[in-house]
Amino acid sequence: MPDYPPCAVCGKELVYVTGQPPYEVYLCPDLELHQLDDRARDEERRFEEWQRRRAKESEQHYWNVAADHRHMSDWSLETYPDDIRGQAAKHKAEAWLDDSDTYSENNVYIYGGVGTGKSGLAWSIMRHRILIDYSNADFVNVRAWLGDIKAAISDGESKLAQSIAARPEQLDLLIFDDLGAERPSDFAIETIATVVEHRHRQNLSTVVTSNYSPSQLIKRLGHGDPVVGQRIVSRLTENCLQIRVDGADRRLNKAAA
Ligand SMILES: Nc1ncnc2c1ncn2[C@@H]1O[C@H](COP(=O)(O)OP(=O)(O)OP(=O)(O)O)[C@@H](O)[C@H]1O
Ligand SMILES: [Mg+2]
Ligand SMILES: [Zn+2]
Repeated sequence: MPDYPPCAVCGKELVYVTGQPPYEVYLCPDLELHQLDDRARDEERRFEEWQRRRAKESEQHYWNVAADHRHMSDWSLETYPDDIRGQAAKHKAEAWLDDSDTYSENNVYIYGGVGTGKSGLAWSIMRHRILIDYSNADFVNVRAWLGDIKAAISDGESKLAQSIAARPEQLDLLIFDDLGAERPSDFAIETIATVVEHRHRQNLSTVVTSNYSPSQLIKRLGHGDPVVGQRIVSRLTENCLQIRVDGADRRLNKAAA
């Protein structure tokens, strides 16, 4: 055998395969294994590449959502108020997020007084879902959303089409913020009911924040016909983690500090 260098991959001596001098071919006896390794490495690289791309897309998606809610764009579970009641609410949310495969609870209903940290908690849940779990999620302030839909209907739908929130029925996770703060017109109730019923049918998660407890919200949405409110609230609170946050208005605390 001519003086060939050993296999560059594993250092084994090459073996004769075919051909006559000076065209004989020597190869590593483990060549097939090396090729399998190469393929595995390629596969791994592709997977890492895909992960990087998803992480980047999620980041992009997060900042698109945050552009419509600038005052919350820096909020997360890490920045959530760390006092006793803040911790209690946050731990429930974290348990729900971490355990979502086994959790039977599809929805979260966060309620309590003004300024207690409901929207901030819902926002943090959404942020985790987008950045960590790569979910397609969006944050919708119900009153503003209904206003957008009305405006879009009167000026020919163009504005509506641009907004992700225009199709809340397709999101993996929808935050329905401040439900009950809208005027309970027939249009509002019907629009909300359509989305809630669709999401319930498709088993899609919805996180609600409200100043109203579920039973209060039934009355508020029903205005006159309690069945109407009950149809909506019953679907939202079936399979639902309820988080009640109480205490003083955190905005006032902050102003005083
Ligand atoms: N994730 C968070 N990170 C940092 N601060 C937060 C966070 N969530 C809430 N806060 C603090 O708590 C205050 C009130 O929070 P938030 O707006 O969530 O209240 P809310 O319960 O939704 O009020 P409302 O009933 O008026 O809708 C905020 O202004 C902020 O100071
Ligand atoms: Mg709020
Ligand atoms: Zn080799």
